[in-house]
Amino acid sequence: MADQPNRQEYRSGHDLRTLRDALGCFATGVTVVTCLAENGKPAGLTVNSFTSVSLDPPLLLVCLAKKAASAEALIAASHFAVNVLQTGQQPASIRFSTRDEDRFGATSWSCGEAGAPILKDSLGVFECERFGVHDGGDHHILVGRVVKASFDATLDPLLYFRGKYRRLHFD
Ligand SMILES: Cc1cc2nc3c(=O)[nH]c(=O)nc-3n(C[C@H](O)[C@H](O)[C@H](O)COP(=O)(O)O)c2cc1C
Repeated sequence: MADQPNRQEYRSGHDLRTLRDALGCFATGVTVVTCLAENGKPAGLTVNSFTSVSLDPPLLLVCLAKKAASAEALIAASHFAVNVLQTGQQPASIRFSTRDEDRFGATSWSCGEAGAPILKDSLGVFECERFGVHDGGDHHILVGRVVKASFDATLDPLLYFRGKYRRLHFD
């Protein structure tokens, strides 16, 4: 193979920083995943591990770090919502990924039909009932069955790539 001076490499057992950087080459959208906890309080965090799984039945998944404070509420909740963020919601993404922020106090939201918090002005919203929770190493894999989906096709998505927020560029 020709010399490739810019190419980095990770192998099993090596440093996790390089693995993170490799995974960060996969550009994603950004979501905030929410639920109402058993005590009635809203819970939620910023998530980019969102993936569609199946159309029939309609399934999607998110991966939640087991050490995340909101993970327990989300895997216990009967329903949750995936709020797909648009470019104007970068502050919400930062808020929902920062400790000790008043995440819901500083964000306009309302309860969706399934009870989970819906963030105002989101590009898309998937309201889900819990379908299953699977072990994913240091993450829970939460699979939801979509009971309602809505979106605003005029909005542009907030993107995340190589550890930075990005926007779509059309030439
Ligand atoms: C763009 C972005 C994507 C993220 N994706 C995930 C994810 O998929 N799963 C996850 O558990 N944490 C993810 N995080 C980290 C959590 O949002 C962050 O650790 C948060 O503070 C957890 O909140 P909690 O401990 O209150 O639950 C992401 C953070 C950012 C900025």
